[in-house]
Amino acid sequence: MDLVRLENVSKVYRVGETDINALREIDLLLPPGGFICFVGPSGSGKTTLLNMIGCLDRPTRGRVFIDGQDVTNLSRKKSALFRGRKLGFIFQGFNLLPVLTAAENVALPLVMVQRLSKADRNREVVGILEAVGMSDQRHKYPNQLSGGQKQRVAVARALVTRPSLILADEPTANLDRVTAERVVDLMKSLRDKFGSTFVFSTHDLGLVKHAETIYELVDGRINDNHRPLGE
Ligand SMILES: Nc1ncnc2c1ncn2[C@@H]1O[C@H](COP(=O)(O)OP(=O)(O)OP(=O)(O)O)[C@@H](O)[C@H]1O
Ligand SMILES: [Mg+2]
Repeated sequence: MDLVRLENVSKVYRVGETDINALREIDLLLPPGGFICFVGPSGSGKTTLLNMIGCLDRPTRGRVFIDGQDVTNLSRKKSALFRGRKLGFIFQGFNLLPVLTAAENVALPLVMVQRLSKADRNREVVGILEAVGMSDQRHKYPNQLSGGQKQRVAVARALVTRPSLILADEPTANLDRVTAERVVDLMKSLRDKFGSTFVFSTHDLGLVKHAETIYELVDGRINDNHRPLGE
């Protein structure tokens, strides 16, 4: 079964008297286990598309299915629950909470879904911080970490609930080349280890070359010449 299915998805933003067609009639099927990239010029709709897949916003028309469930019109509460259980997010600006340590930031999604006892939660947090090479830094606050370290903590936070799908909007945009490569290698190895699917957007050619499937967005449409690597 496809992990992500978009049927005829359009998104129109209304700004004053003007309609902006951010996405136009997108049909998309993504199988589980992929390392999938959206590229395209600024304003082409990458973030809007990730927001649709991540249940962060609703399409104007069309339907969105994640893991077989129709998530198109979930209530705010239900979509928050769905995100907590099934999805992980990595952001360009890391979005760690400054008043929490690295470990507390990583624990947050587990606290929110309330699935585990405190002891089990701590075990999961230390385990995933080890997987990203940050367990020795876990008591530090975000402002005591470098950009690459922060992003590794953010990757750990996205993965700690073992979501089937991780969405990342320009995850390497604030990192230097070497650190960006490390974060990409890390995401790929975690994909291999946990079987999670990664879907990300990027302008970074260094990241694009690691993708297994590349979709190019142009003016809210997916260019037909998308390239599943190796074909
Ligand atoms: N909340 C919003 N309100 C109105 N228009 C929006 C909103 N969000 C995005 N848009 C518009 O929708 C279009 C697609 O924007 P989007 O952010 O998806 O592009 P993008 O491909 O992610 O660009 P970038 O590479 O610059 O991040 C653009 O024309 C943008 O101005
Ligand atoms: Mg964007």
